[in-house]
Amino acid sequence: MSVSALSELTLSHFRSHLDTRIILDGRPVAIFGLNGAGKTNILEAISLLSPGRGMRRSKVGDMVRYPEEIGWKISTVLKTSNLTHKVEIRTGPNLNRLTSIDGKATSQLALGELVKIIWLTPNMDRLWVDGPEVRRRFVDRITHSFIPRHAQEILSYEKAMRERNRLLKEASRNLDWYRAIESQMAVAGTKIIENRNTALEKLSISMKISQTSFPVADLSLINEEKDLNIFSADQFREVLEIKRSEDLYLGRTSVGPHKTDLKVQYKEKGIDAKYCSTGEQKALLISLILANARGLLREEGAPPIMLLDEVSAHLDYKRRQDLYEEISSLGAQAWMTGTDVDLFKEILNISQQFKVVDKNGKSSVLIQ
Ligand SMILES: Nc1ncnc2c1ncn2[C@@H]1O[C@H](COP(=O)(O)OP(=O)(O)OP(=O)(O)O)[C@@H](O)[C@H]1O
Ligand SMILES: [Mg+2]
Repeated sequence: MSVSALSELTLSHFRSHLDTRIILDGRPVAIFGLNGAGKTNILEAISLLSPGRGMRRSKVGDMVRYPEEIGWKISTVLKTSNLTHKVEIRTGPNLNRLTSIDGKATSQLALGELVKIIWLTPNMDRLWVDGPEVRRRFVDRITHSFIPRHAQEILSYEKAMRERNRLLKEASRNLDWYRAIESQMAVAGTKIIENRNTALEKLSISMKISQTSFPVADLSLINEEKDLNIFSADQFREVLEIKRSEDLYLGRTSVGPHKTDLKVQYKEKGIDAKYCSTGEQKALLISLILANARGLLREEGAPPIMLLDEVSAHLDYKRRQDLYEEISSLGAQAWMTGTDVDLFKEILNISQQFKVVDKNGKSSVLIQ
């Protein structure tokens, strides 16, 4: 069974936190405090337990606390119903990220198999109006939460594509080389497409079978090459071969899952997410993240850890209440931030509450 909650979190020299220790009891966590107090920094630290660059996509060095600049460490105790693990992530000698589980050095990907973490940040409000790359990353994070090996598939696809692009730029005529690389791209690329479709299917089922007041979304992946969704590896290889002369002219690969976009419709209204109101767009995002959490609960037997940065701020009182009810029924350790304690009054009795304050550039966490 997958890990479902943190029971301890210690941040050393991580951004505004010099030495912060929080003890958790598995209930949802409400964190409030003034702007700049250090709330999001706590969520960001937790997001580093999952593979990738974390929810702010920051460089390791940017998270080193100044003025000391001696490197940071995040120590946690992860808990399932019957197991606990000590997990540590810290900066290495070359500002690389070192991960250990129970004192043994391990990879980020291995940690990703142990703990599922999903998040929603204010930045993601731009998801529907930003370029396709941001939506693709969103789809890949969801896909990765269901299918951890998706990350490796993406790495091998991108590696092969970089190699093909290099050949194209050099106008190489080495046909054997092209064939070998396109073969690798086709195998990894078809897996990527298959994984994404599987993950979106799981999301759609989650939305269909649950009774929620959050809007249901119609999800589809769109490709310039219309029927890429039904490609077999062989068909994909053929397309790459056919496109080769066109791609030689462009100097890059013009077709494949690296061009896919996510199309989301607000089902009830039948309109594209990008034309929805601000509140509707936020509700759609929450709906997707909740569906992701329910899907993981169904598949893994445990809900993921959820990081919901400033999620309540734009919700009316009714929606806020619905969100809190969903979180309680999931049994998820949801970490929520807000500037005002009142945002959490509907969840007062069933959450742990912490106030974060800043004093001379140093954040402290006070138990409420
Ligand atoms: N590397 C760092 N070293 C020291 N302090 C840092 C570092 N990076 C960011 N900070 C400080 O952390 C603070 C921001 O913390 P954070 O983003 O967690 O605030 P917040 O409580 O979420 O605020 P808001 O309500 O505005 O979102 C800022 O004051 C910033 O200067
Ligand atoms: Mg913040």
